[in-house]
Amino acid sequence: MDFFELINKRYSVRSYLPDEVEDEKIRKILEVARLAPTACNLQAFKIVVAKTEGRKEQLNRIYSRTWFAEAPYMIAVCAVKGKGWVRSDQKSFADVDTAIIMDHIILAATALGLGTCWIGAFDPGAVIDVLNLDKDLEPIVLTPLGYPKGEQTPRRRKTLEELVIYR
Ligand SMILES: Cc1cc2nc3c(=O)[nH]c(=O)nc-3n(C[C@H](O)[C@H](O)[C@H](O)COP(=O)(O)O)c2cc1C
Repeated sequence: MDFFELINKRYSVRSYLPDEVEDEKIRKILEVARLAPTACNLQAFKIVVAKTEGRKEQLNRIYSRTWFAEAPYMIAVCAVKGKGWVRSDQKSFADVDTAIIMDHIILAATALGLGTCWIGAFDPGAVIDVLNLDKDLEPIVLTPLGYPKGEQTPRRRKTLEELVIYR
């Protein structure tokens, strides 16, 4: 699959099969995340890989949709507080860095036939509690990871005319 096919194939998967994900695929996804760029190459992030088996109720405290804990894995990308690049006007790039990491994870997963869904509307306190995160970690984005059940939904996107400004 070439890059453009891959981009078209990715969608937010909100229904998962219980099928196990091969360790080799997890490894490949994590390796792609490791290669992602970060501001000033500071790599101030941690990726938490959580198995969902036997802890679905706990995980649903983080995000209550049942499909969130349906896949065999849930991945959290966290910023390491105070370690990322901060611009001279004090803007922190932690969110940008972690979004790039998650995008790499999501696209690698798609290339391997796996489904994901960006989750931002979670309860951060519950993530810290359920995943027993160290105090220096801030969870920024999450995704389930597993084989999709069902089909890609039609895309709704603004036109290029609405989105692009030429100056
Ligand atoms: C940063 C970010 C946060 C998101 N948070 C959620 C979320 O909490 N719950 C959810 O169901 N989808 C979430 N989404 C998925 C978007 O709703 C979805 O990407 C968008 O509707 C486009 O659909 P598509 O991903 O299928 O192309 C999020 C997406 C992004 C990029």
